[in-house]
Amino acid sequence: MNARPAPARILGIDTSCDDTGVGVVELAPDGGVRVLANRVWSQTVHANYGGVMPELASREHVERIDAVTGDALAEAGLTVQDVDVVAATSGPGLVGALLVGLMYGKGLAQALGVPFHAAHHLEGHIYAAASEAELRPPYLALVVSGGHTHLFDVPREGEYVLVGATRDDAAGEAFDKVARLAGLGYPGGPAISEAARRGDPDAVPFKEPLKGQKGFDFSFSGLKTAALLAHRAGANPEDLAAGFERAAVNFLLGTTLRAAQAYGRNTVVVSGGVAANRALREAFAASPVRAVFPGQGLNTDNGAMIALAGAAALRAGRPPSPLSEGAVAYAPLANA
Ligand code: KG4
Ligand code: ZN
Repeated sequence: MNARPAPARILGIDTSCDDTGVGVVELAPDGGVRVLANRVWSQTVHANYGGVMPELASREHVERIDAVTGDALAEAGLTVQDVDVVAATSGPGLVGALLVGLMYGKGLAQALGVPFHAAHHLEGHIYAAASEAELRPPYLALVVSGGHTHLFDVPREGEYVLVGATRDDAAGEAFDKVARLAGLGYPGGPAISEAARRGDPDAVPFKEPLKGQKGFDFSFSGLKTAALLAHRAGANPEDLAAGFERAAVNFLLGTTLRAAQAYGRNTVVVSGGVAANRALREAFAASPVRAVFPGQGLNTDNGAMIALAGAAALRAGRPPSPLSEGAVAYAPLANA
């Protein structure tokens, strides 16, 4: 009698910016995936600098990576010997920061004698949604985070066509900047969202960005300028937050729905830090497309999303990455 095929346990690592993330995912023989653990150490050393200090980020990753990995394995109820595949982000991101997780992951894979997968950070963000629903192409993927605003068409597994991108700020960056100018605190996304609940979205006028464009690009500089002018004119911060959030959400939704129609897709993955936004989730849920969002704790940078990308690579039969794979600061995902 044959033994039942065992599930594979994939350990995923992301150290692309200022979060040390390690997660564990189980890939069942039938192709189903389950997140067993997701631990993130968010660095606070950058708070006084108004931005991420690359050298400090690398050092913190070095100090934390081993403990975060231990915590993730404990949360999964596994030991390191139970790991069948190791995946780590190789780019894009801060090279020094990326190198820490990449080297740690490669070292672990080599020590355990298991395959290693280098993962693309944005592919990780997209596969974060696989925690909630089976993700089979074709679909559109809107990645909205602090550093990225990209709309991809995914016609086949592992194939990405860039449909649109931001011409200036990333969506999350705009939330952060508007929150800062309105004195709402950091991180700006959750702060805007919270303040918006008490504000009147009609009090401050925001014009639709790139109105009338034929393509599917994004731009947030106009909304940011409108927020700044309204703030200088003495607008109430809660009204400002409500108006900005509604305008940003409508713009992201409207552009994505036009693209979904143009590309004939009815499933849309929405991921990245901004995908945690409640108003954005509600707007997509009420739209005609099937919107898939990552589960709790998987919107912002984390290691489980990299493990999920590794699981997808494994399921698709992609060969493991060579241990010579290096870290890359700039790495476009679109290959068509
Ligand atoms: O994915 P992420 O952790 O980092 C990058 O890869 O860039 O995203 C962080 C971004 C921040 O700009 C933060 O303000 C935004 O995601 N964010 C939100 C919300 N939660 C986080 N934006 C809008 N609404 C939220 N609830
Ligand atoms: Zn990210």
